Amino acid sequence: MGKYIHLVSFQINSPINHTILSWAAPEDNRLQALGDLGRWIDMARTLERGLFDAIFFADTPGVFDRYQDRMDEAIRYGVCWPTMDPVTLLGAIAGATERLGLAATVSTGPHHPYAVVRQLSTLDYMSGGRVGWNIVTGHLRGEHRAYGLAELPHDERYDRAEEYMEVCHALWNSVEDGAILADKAGGVFADPGKVKTLHHQGKYFNCSTVAPALPSPQGRPVLFQAGSSGRGQQFAMKHADVVFAIQPNLPGMKKFMDDFRAMARQLGRNPPPGVTLGIQPVIGGSEEEAQQKLNGIVERIPLEAAIARLSGTMGVDFSGMELDQPLAEMQTQGSQGLMKAFSNIVDDRPLTLREVAIRWGLSVGMPQIVGSPEQVADRIETIWRETGCHGFNVTPHVMPSSIGDFVDQVVPILQKRGIYPTEYIGRTLRENAELG
Ligand SMILES: Cc1cc2nc3c(=O)[nH]c(=O)nc-3n(C[C@H](O)[C@H](O)[C@H](O)COP(=O)(O)O)c2cc1C
Repeated sequence: MGKYIHLVSFQINSPINHTILSWAAPEDNRLQALGDLGRWIDMARTLERGLFDAIFFADTPGVFDRYQDRMDEAIRYGVCWPTMDPVTLLGAIAGATERLGLAATVSTGPHHPYAVVRQLSTLDYMSGGRVGWNIVTGHLRGEHRAYGLAELPHDERYDRAEEYMEVCHALWNSVEDGAILADKAGGVFADPGKVKTLHHQGKYFNCSTVAPALPSPQGRPVLFQAGSSGRGQQFAMKHADVVFAIQPNLPGMKKFMDDFRAMARQLGRNPPPGVTLGIQPVIGGSEEEAQQKLNGIVERIPLEAAIARLSGTMGVDFSGMELDQPLAEMQTQGSQGLMKAFSNIVDDRPLTLREVAIRWGLSVGMPQIVGSPEQVADRIETIWRETGCHGFNVTPHVMPSSIGDFVDQVVPILQKRGIYPTEYIGRTLRENAELG
């Protein structure tokens, strides 16, 4: 456990972040923000004022289409449809911020590793080393359909991603120290003897070239990973600086952390990657007011939209299943880690399909932290101390006010307790996130 709690703001470049129909809340500005860079930039500056390590964009470049084998619910309710590109948006945010990290999910499914290294290393170079990459392998069927790709079995997606990372690392390491001369008088830009060529011919990828971008201050982006199945965690132990996890409650978080540390020991990863736990603060003037706010959000969520989203993530069509029966763990090629976390005992009993769907509709399973600013700060501190996590991935329920409320009301309390920084620690994302 580090000295400070580290925070990342969990975003999606779509009509909602995670809360279904949040765009329909009178005070929500996401629909305007989608076409107005200024609003995103205002939000990013609020996060920077609150010393968040990074703004982080999740991304599923395809539509939730498992439920009843159609896209209607995703489209009708704007459940992450449309799904707009986050890296383009981060380019604009980079120009309007100075310290805030810029992290994006980019799936290894549709894009060649050369394209991804080129895109992210360009942004890392231009932003002074503030980029992070959430490596996902594409658990959403709609993504494969959109790109016309075969849907690989769960574990094979990770095998393919291993080869993917081999190519990425070779490209990141292609330019040796001292290679860039920029010698104006001599007319020599770089020493070809110090720029290594990669000749990769593998099972999934071919790549023969050199680095596509100038070496950035971080060398490579900070690497995030969010798979929580056994195979997903093995991948994370090898590649990730930070792992994003979603667990329904404190016992689930503690168990996740214990298992994660045990796996790190077993696989010789020392220190283990940091773990950032997903949470959704709901802040009110009092606990009662915050609870009322939460009730209002839940009431707005159409159940079929929530089940459609759950079906997409889990890779299972839940239509026609009994809503008030416990959600039984099922074989899936979708998210095995999240299936496991929500189909077992939660809060002393199994959750029903209806209950899990509502949690999905609210926050894809991230637990709500409901109360006054003081209570929210208490809860965050307790989870941080009891789990030893690196920090939190914070998803808002209404944009941008829940972010502003958190930054203005909760951050100062954490700072007063000495468990949150009072200024950015360094320049790069790696430095600010204390990742060594
Ligand atoms: C906090 C969190 C964020 C995630 N963000 C994305 C995302 O943006 N895009 C995506 O395709 N998958 C995302 N996932 C899914 C995982 O990356 C992973 O593909 C999925 O959980 C299946 O892997 P597993 O079976 O190893 O858990 C996320 C998962 C978690 C827990």
